[in-house]
Amino acid sequence: MRAGTGKPIVGKHEEQASPKHVAIIMDGNGRWAQARGKPRLFGHHAGAQRVREIVKACPELGVRYLTIFAFSTENWKRTQAEVSGLMKLFRRYMMDEARALISSGVRIRFIGDRIKLDETLVALMDELELLTCDNDVVHLTVALNYGGRDEVARATKRLCREVKAGRIDPESVDGETLARFLDTYVLPDPDLVIRTSGEARISNFLLWQSAYSEYVFVDTLWPDFTREELEQVLATFSTRERRFGTVPG
Ligand code: FPP
Repeated sequence: MRAGTGKPIVGKHEEQASPKHVAIIMDGNGRWAQARGKPRLFGHHAGAQRVREIVKACPELGVRYLTIFAFSTENWKRTQAEVSGLMKLFRRYMMDEARALISSGVRIRFIGDRIKLDETLVALMDELELLTCDNDVVHLTVALNYGGRDEVARATKRLCREVKAGRIDPESVDGETLARFLDTYVLPDPDLVIRTSGEARISNFLLWQSAYSEYVFVDTLWPDFTREELEQVLATFSTRERRFGTVPG
Protein backbone atom coordinates (compact mmCIF):
# COMPACT_ATOMS: atom_id res chain seq x y z
CA MET A 1 0.00 0.00 0.00
CA ARG A 2 1.11 3.57 -0.52
CA ALA A 3 1.12 5.32 2.86
CA GLY A 4 -2.09 7.13 3.55
CA THR A 5 -3.80 6.31 0.25
CA GLY A 6 -5.04 2.77 0.89
CA LYS A 7 -4.19 2.01 -2.74
CA PRO A 8 -2.14 -1.10 -3.55
CA ILE A 9 1.04 -0.74 -5.56
CA VAL A 10 1.98 -3.13 -8.36
CA GLY A 11 5.68 -3.10 -9.09
CA LYS A 12 6.76 0.51 -9.08
CA HIS A 13 3.37 2.02 -9.87
CA GLU A 14 -0.08 2.10 -8.39
CA GLU A 15 -2.70 -0.42 -9.43
CA GLN A 16 -5.25 1.02 -11.87
CA ALA A 17 -8.87 1.18 -10.81
CA SER A 18 -11.39 -0.56 -13.08
CA PRO A 19 -11.45 1.09 -16.48
CA LYS A 20 -14.39 3.44 -16.74
CA HIS A 21 -14.71 2.87 -20.48
CA VAL A 22 -13.97 -0.45 -22.18
CA ALA A 23 -14.14 -0.77 -25.97
CA ILE A 24 -14.16 -4.16 -27.67
CA ILE A 25 -13.31 -5.34 -31.18
CA MET A 26 -15.39 -8.52 -31.20
CA ASP A 27 -13.40 -10.64 -33.64
CA GLY A 28 -13.49 -14.34 -34.46
CA ASN A 29 -17.17 -15.16 -35.00
CA GLY A 30 -16.52 -16.56 -38.48
CA ARG A 31 -13.64 -18.81 -37.39
CA TRP A 32 -15.64 -20.00 -34.38
CA ALA A 33 -18.46 -21.11 -36.69
CA GLN A 34 -16.16 -22.63 -39.30
CA ALA A 35 -14.41 -24.69 -36.62
CA ARG A 36 -17.83 -26.25 -35.94
CA GLY A 37 -18.60 -26.81 -39.62
CA LYS A 38 -21.31 -24.13 -39.50
CA PRO A 39 -21.97 -21.04 -41.63
CA ARG A 40 -20.40 -17.77 -40.49
CA LEU A 41 -23.75 -16.36 -39.40
CA PHE A 42 -23.98 -19.08 -36.77
CA GLY A 43 -20.90 -17.50 -35.21
CA HIS A 44 -22.44 -14.03 -35.32
CA HIS A 45 -25.52 -15.33 -33.49
CA ALA A 46 -23.29 -16.88 -30.82
CA GLY A 47 -21.44 -13.54 -30.70
CA ALA A 48 -24.70 -11.70 -30.00
CA GLN A 49 -25.26 -14.00 -27.03
CA ARG A 50 -21.87 -12.95 -25.66
CA VAL A 51 -22.80 -9.29 -26.06
CA ARG A 52 -25.75 -9.90 -23.72
CA GLU A 53 -23.53 -11.57 -21.11
CA ILE A 54 -20.78 -8.94 -21.24
CA VAL A 55 -23.21 -5.99 -21.04
CA LYS A 56 -24.78 -7.62 -17.98
CA ALA A 57 -21.38 -8.07 -16.31
CA CYS A 58 -20.24 -4.45 -16.76
CA PRO A 59 -21.96 -2.78 -13.78
CA GLU A 60 -20.82 -5.60 -11.48
CA LEU A 61 -17.23 -5.12 -12.66
CA GLY A 62 -17.24 -1.35 -12.31
CA VAL A 63 -17.32 -0.65 -16.05
CA ARG A 64 -19.62 2.27 -16.77
CA TYR A 65 -19.08 2.65 -20.53
CA LEU A 66 -18.90 -0.22 -23.01
CA THR A 67 -18.39 0.37 -26.72
CA ILE A 68 -18.58 -2.54 -29.14
CA PHE A 69 -17.57 -2.75 -32.79
CA ALA A 70 -20.51 -4.45 -34.48
CA PHE A 71 -20.08 -3.48 -38.14
CA SER A 72 -17.32 -1.50 -39.82
CA THR A 73 -17.40 0.72 -42.90
CA GLU A 74 -15.32 -2.03 -44.54
CA ASN A 75 -17.66 -4.90 -43.59
CA TRP A 76 -19.93 -4.10 -46.58
CA LYS A 77 -17.31 -5.94 -48.69
CA ARG A 78 -18.44 -9.27 -47.20
CA THR A 79 -20.86 -11.45 -49.13
CA GLN A 80 -24.39 -10.15 -49.58
CA ALA A 81 -25.69 -13.10 -47.53
CA GLU A 82 -23.43 -12.30 -44.56
CA VAL A 83 -24.17 -8.56 -44.66
CA SER A 84 -27.93 -9.04 -44.81
CA GLY A 85 -27.76 -11.76 -42.16
CA LEU A 86 -25.87 -9.39 -39.85
CA MET A 87 -28.36 -6.56 -40.46
CA LYS A 88 -31.20 -8.94 -39.65
CA LEU A 89 -29.38 -10.00 -36.48
CA PHE A 90 -28.95 -6.37 -35.38
CA ARG A 91 -32.69 -5.72 -35.93
CA ARG A 92 -33.59 -8.87 -34.02
CA TYR A 93 -31.19 -8.00 -31.15
CA MET A 94 -32.70 -4.53 -30.81
CA MET A 95 -36.26 -5.81 -30.77
CA ASP A 96 -35.53 -8.69 -28.38
CA GLU A 97 -33.27 -6.75 -26.03
CA ALA A 98 -35.21 -3.48 -25.77
CA ARG A 99 -37.15 -4.46 -22.67
CA ALA A 100 -34.12 -5.93 -20.85
CA LEU A 101 -31.92 -2.94 -21.70
CA ILE A 102 -34.51 -0.46 -20.44
CA SER A 103 -35.19 -2.32 -17.20
CA SER A 104 -31.52 -2.95 -16.40
CA GLY A 105 -30.58 0.70 -16.69
CA VAL A 106 -28.57 0.45 -19.92
CA ARG A 107 -28.38 3.59 -22.00
CA ILE A 108 -27.75 2.65 -25.61
CA ARG A 109 -26.18 4.84 -28.26
CA PHE A 110 -25.05 4.17 -31.81
CA ILE A 111 -22.02 5.62 -33.53
CA GLY A 112 -21.15 5.42 -37.20
CA ASP A 113 -22.71 6.74 -40.39
CA ARG A 114 -26.41 5.90 -40.56
CA ILE A 115 -26.75 7.00 -44.17
CA LYS A 116 -26.10 3.54 -45.67
CA LEU A 117 -28.20 1.65 -43.13
CA ASP A 118 -31.66 0.32 -43.82
CA GLU A 119 -34.36 2.74 -42.65
CA THR A 120 -36.16 0.17 -40.48
CA LEU A 121 -32.89 -0.47 -38.66
CA VAL A 122 -32.26 3.27 -38.23
CA ALA A 123 -35.81 3.70 -36.87
CA LEU A 124 -35.12 0.98 -34.29
CA MET A 125 -31.81 2.60 -33.37
CA ASP A 126 -33.51 5.99 -32.87
CA GLU A 127 -36.27 4.40 -30.81
CA LEU A 128 -33.85 2.51 -28.54
CA GLU A 129 -31.74 5.62 -27.99
CA LEU A 130 -34.87 7.52 -26.97
CA LEU A 131 -36.32 4.75 -24.81
CA THR A 132 -33.09 4.37 -22.83
CA CYS A 133 -32.05 8.04 -22.68
CA ASP A 134 -32.79 8.37 -18.94
CA ASN A 135 -30.76 5.27 -18.03
CA ASP A 136 -27.39 5.68 -16.38
CA VAL A 137 -26.17 2.31 -15.03
CA VAL A 138 -24.19 1.32 -18.13
CA HIS A 139 -23.65 3.31 -21.30
CA LEU A 140 -23.56 0.85 -24.19
CA THR A 141 -22.39 2.27 -27.50
CA VAL A 142 -22.74 0.14 -30.61
CA ALA A 143 -20.53 1.04 -33.55
CA LEU A 144 -22.55 0.30 -36.69
CA ASN A 145 -21.24 1.23 -40.13
CA TYR A 146 -18.41 2.80 -38.17
CA GLY A 147 -14.88 3.59 -39.27
CA GLY A 148 -12.48 5.84 -37.39
CA ARG A 149 -11.23 7.62 -40.50
CA ASP A 150 -14.77 8.05 -41.79
CA GLU A 151 -15.81 9.51 -38.43
CA VAL A 152 -12.94 12.03 -38.46
CA ALA A 153 -13.76 12.96 -42.07
CA ARG A 154 -17.46 13.49 -41.24
CA ALA A 155 -16.53 15.52 -38.15
CA THR A 156 -14.16 17.65 -40.22
CA LYS A 157 -16.88 18.29 -42.77
CA ARG A 158 -19.26 19.51 -40.04
CA LEU A 159 -16.54 21.64 -38.49
CA CYS A 160 -15.73 23.21 -41.89
CA ARG A 161 -19.40 24.11 -42.32
CA GLU A 162 -19.32 25.94 -38.98
CA VAL A 163 -16.16 27.78 -40.01
CA LYS A 164 -17.70 28.69 -43.37
CA ALA A 165 -20.81 30.01 -41.62
CA GLY A 166 -18.60 32.20 -39.45
CA ARG A 167 -19.55 30.48 -36.21
CA ILE A 168 -16.06 29.11 -35.50
CA ASP A 169 -12.81 31.03 -35.92
CA PRO A 170 -10.41 28.71 -37.81
CA GLU A 171 -7.51 30.02 -35.69
CA SER A 172 -9.25 28.70 -32.55
CA VAL A 173 -9.55 25.11 -33.82
CA ASP A 174 -7.72 22.55 -31.69
CA GLY A 175 -8.20 18.88 -30.78
CA GLU A 176 -11.03 19.67 -28.39
CA THR A 177 -12.89 21.58 -31.09
CA LEU A 178 -12.71 18.63 -33.48
CA ALA A 179 -13.64 16.14 -30.74
CA ARG A 180 -16.93 18.01 -30.28
CA PHE A 181 -17.90 17.00 -33.82
CA LEU A 182 -17.08 13.30 -33.43
CA ASP A 183 -19.87 10.71 -33.02
CA THR A 184 -18.50 10.05 -29.51
CA TYR A 185 -18.65 13.68 -28.30
CA VAL A 186 -20.62 12.76 -25.16
CA LEU A 187 -18.41 9.79 -24.21
CA PRO A 188 -15.15 9.66 -22.27
CA ASP A 189 -12.20 8.25 -24.21
CA PRO A 190 -11.78 4.48 -23.76
CA ASP A 191 -9.34 3.48 -21.03
CA LEU A 192 -9.03 -0.03 -22.40
CA VAL A 193 -9.50 -1.52 -25.87
CA ILE A 194 -9.80 -5.30 -26.11
CA ARG A 195 -9.52 -7.29 -29.31
CA THR A 196 -10.38 -10.96 -29.37
CA SER A 197 -9.27 -13.75 -31.74
CA GLY A 198 -5.50 -13.31 -31.68
CA GLU A 199 -5.34 -10.46 -34.20
CA ALA A 200 -3.32 -7.46 -33.04
CA ARG A 201 -4.72 -4.62 -35.14
CA ILE A 202 -6.83 -1.51 -34.50
CA SER A 203 -8.82 -1.96 -37.73
CA ASN A 204 -10.02 1.64 -37.89
CA PHE A 205 -11.74 1.50 -34.47
CA LEU A 206 -11.89 4.67 -32.32
CA LEU A 207 -8.68 5.99 -33.88
CA TRP A 208 -8.92 9.45 -32.35
CA GLN A 209 -10.36 8.39 -29.00
CA SER A 210 -7.87 5.58 -28.25
CA ALA A 211 -4.77 7.81 -28.41
CA TYR A 212 -3.94 6.93 -24.78
CA SER A 213 -5.94 3.74 -24.32
CA GLU A 214 -4.38 0.53 -23.08
CA TYR A 215 -4.71 -2.37 -25.53
CA VAL A 216 -5.20 -6.00 -24.57
CA PHE A 217 -5.24 -8.66 -27.29
CA VAL A 218 -6.58 -12.08 -26.37
CA ASP A 219 -6.55 -15.30 -28.42
CA THR A 220 -10.11 -16.28 -27.50
CA LEU A 221 -12.65 -16.05 -30.31
CA TRP A 222 -15.47 -13.63 -29.46
CA PRO A 223 -18.22 -16.27 -29.01
CA ASP A 224 -16.03 -17.89 -26.31
CA PHE A 225 -15.21 -14.63 -24.50
CA THR A 226 -16.80 -15.02 -21.07
CA ARG A 227 -17.33 -12.72 -18.13
CA GLU A 228 -14.44 -14.55 -16.39
CA GLU A 229 -12.12 -13.72 -19.26
CA LEU A 230 -13.21 -10.08 -19.10
CA GLU A 231 -12.29 -10.13 -15.42
CA GLN A 232 -8.83 -11.46 -16.32
CA VAL A 233 -8.38 -8.70 -18.88
CA LEU A 234 -9.40 -6.11 -16.28
CA ALA A 235 -6.80 -7.61 -13.94
CA THR A 236 -4.17 -7.18 -16.68
CA PHE A 237 -5.30 -3.59 -17.16
CA SER A 238 -4.92 -2.95 -13.43
CA THR A 239 -1.18 -3.68 -13.68
CA ARG A 240 -0.57 -1.27 -16.55
CA GLU A 241 1.14 2.01 -15.90
CA ARG A 242 -0.65 4.81 -17.75
CA ARG A 243 1.56 7.77 -18.46
CA PHE A 244 -0.37 9.88 -20.96
CA GLY A 245 2.90 11.05 -22.47
CA THR A 246 4.49 12.09 -19.17
CA VAL A 247 7.35 10.49 -17.22
CA PRO A 248 6.66 8.26 -14.19
CA GLY A 249 6.25 10.32 -10.98
C1 FPP B 1 -15.94 -10.03 -36.51
O1 FPP B 1 -15.76 -11.41 -36.60
C2 FPP B 1 -17.31 -9.74 -36.13
C3 FPP B 1 -18.17 -8.96 -36.84
C4 FPP B 1 -17.80 -8.30 -38.09
C5 FPP B 1 -19.55 -8.79 -36.40
C6 FPP B 1 -19.73 -8.55 -34.94
C7 FPP B 1 -21.11 -8.84 -34.63
C8 FPP B 1 -21.54 -9.52 -33.56
C9 FPP B 1 -20.71 -9.96 -32.43
C10 FPP B 1 -22.97 -9.84 -33.54
C11 FPP B 1 -23.73 -9.25 -32.45
C12 FPP B 1 -23.68 -7.80 -32.28
C13 FPP B 1 -24.70 -7.12 -31.76
C14 FPP B 1 -24.57 -5.68 -31.45
C15 FPP B 1 -25.98 -7.75 -31.47
P1 FPP B 1 -15.41 -12.05 -38.01
O2 FPP B 1 -16.68 -12.38 -38.70
O3 FPP B 1 -14.52 -11.10 -38.77
O4 FPP B 1 -14.65 -13.32 -37.60
P2 FPP B 1 -13.44 -14.01 -38.38
O5 FPP B 1 -12.28 -13.05 -38.30
O6 FPP B 1 -13.21 -15.26 -37.61
O7 FPP B 1 -13.88 -14.26 -39.79
